[in-house]
Amino acid sequence: MSSQKVSRRQFLNYTLMGVGGFMGAAVVMPMLRFAVDPALKANASGDFINTGLKISEITETPTRVDYKLEVKDGWYEAEETRTAWVYKDEEGGIVALSPVCKHLGCTVNWEGDEKHKNEFYCPCHGGRYEKSGKNIPNTPPIGPLDLYESQEKDGVLYLGNTKTNEV
Ligand code: FES
Repeated sequence: MSSQKVSRRQFLNYTLMGVGGFMGAAVVMPMLRFAVDPALKANASGDFINTGLKISEITETPTRVDYKLEVKDGWYEAEETRTAWVYKDEEGGIVALSPVCKHLGCTVNWEGDEKHKNEFYCPCHGGRYEKSGKNIPNTPPIGPLDLYESQEKDGVLYLGNTKTNEV
């Protein structure tokens, strides 16, 4: 068994390094946490946002609803406006469709073209969708309009993320 003696100089070196390292960590850790923390915070994108629209006001005719939400991306915070086309289906269920056209992303409008009643219409290239959001064959869109997840709270419509519309 080997026994190594630690000299006074080595002992002082180790002690100073230990204390210095501890003090350095105490200074650096809060700064590191401050720098990284916003990026680690839970993403609120899964939250449902209050649209301010009363469920009782929703009819069977698609109505445009604009609502605001706060968006946080790291240190960047902004208010964003989202839009949905909302109506009740025959069973009284809420349908909330994204207005983003599945061709090149323009905004669709309900009965946006006089020639095509009872349809969503995209003015950019004449894209057409049925009321359910299903794209009409032989028009530019390559898929149905996305569907918002929806919830009712206290008689008011809340909307979440969009999902694929299985129509
Ligand atoms: S972007 Fe809607 S039809 Fe082209």
